[in-house]
Amino acid sequence: MLGIETSCDETSVAIVSSDYQILANVVLSQEDHAAYGGVVPELASRAHIRTLCFICRQALERAGLTWNELAGIAVTHGPGLVGSLVVGLSTAKGLALSTGLPLIGVHHMEAHLFANRLTGPIPCPFVALLVSGGHTELILVPRWGKYELLGRTRDDAAGEAFDKTAKLLNLIPGKGVVAGGRMLAQCAANGNSHAVQFPRALQGQPNCDFSFSGLKTAVLNHVRSLSQRALSEQLEDIAASVQAAIVGALVDKTVYAVQVTGVQHVALAGGVAANAMLRQELEVNVRKQGCTMYCPPPALCTDNAAMVAAAGCFHLEQGETADMDLDAFPRISLA
Ligand code: KG4
Ligand code: ZN
Repeated sequence: MLGIETSCDETSVAIVSSDYQILANVVLSQEDHAAYGGVVPELASRAHIRTLCFICRQALERAGLTWNELAGIAVTHGPGLVGSLVVGLSTAKGLALSTGLPLIGVHHMEAHLFANRLTGPIPCPFVALLVSGGHTELILVPRWGKYELLGRTRDDAAGEAFDKTAKLLNLIPGKGVVAGGRMLAQCAANGNSHAVQFPRALQGQPNCDFSFSGLKTAVLNHVRSLSQRALSEQLEDIAASVQAAIVGALVDKTVYAVQVTGVQHVALAGGVAANAMLRQELEVNVRKQGCTMYCPPPALCTDNAAMVAAAGCFHLEQGETADMDLDAFPRISLA
């Protein structure tokens, strides 16, 4: 299965075998947005156009395959930036038409979940914590392909909280907003996570919802209350405290989801799943509930096409292929 991922600012093409082995996974992170402090949609679409065909050929070369050895073309058709999605979708349709291969439309968040499938099977039912730059959701998966929403963020996504606070702490000058999570985690590595008590909205409430917008305001107020010197002295402690607040909320609500559903397996996925503290804390806390945690390696947590191809393998196996009128959906929920 050839997978194409262009929903945001990573251009990626991968090839995955029907038993979920990665044969090639080319990921190109766009540099075009560095000067703007965030992803510029028009620049993202243009960068996808420039590189996508080349990356398709590169993925085939790396896998040592030809077009007629493939079984299908899977492509992210939402959610994401509409212009970027259209580039991937048009390319996938062109390839499907010219090769005669079936076209498979993949939901970006389902693809994130399928990154787990690339490291091994997960026994169903399980609870999935999906945490990316645009989404934060707890989902019950009774079986692959069936998703029941348990709760989601009421405002910002967890990745957005990392990105925006990293920006407030001036941790990402010239690197764009999207590197925020990684930069904040790096800065937090040697800090004291108990230094500042940042708010954990909805904590202790009997639901699976999240809210991170108050955290952003609290960090802003805290930063404003400090002198420049105090801020630079306390930067690592503040970053560690922010990270602890985000991770704490994610872990608490996942544990609650486990308790109300009674599942024995928990899967973590999405860009924020690359966060070392989240991986550790979630593992420890779900294990206390008698659960096993599953998580892709960090490189497969952030956007990549191998996860899209993996979801494509599953849908093709189910006989779920798309027609040439498959559309791009900037907003489309998984459950
Ligand atoms: O899934 P993803 O690559 O793109 C979207 O679908 O949004 O997720 C990107 C998000 C960004 O918000 C980024 O800051 C966050 O994942 N992220 C991290 C880490 N690596 C990426 N957040 C915390 N710690 C990390 N190590
Ligand atoms: Zn993503």
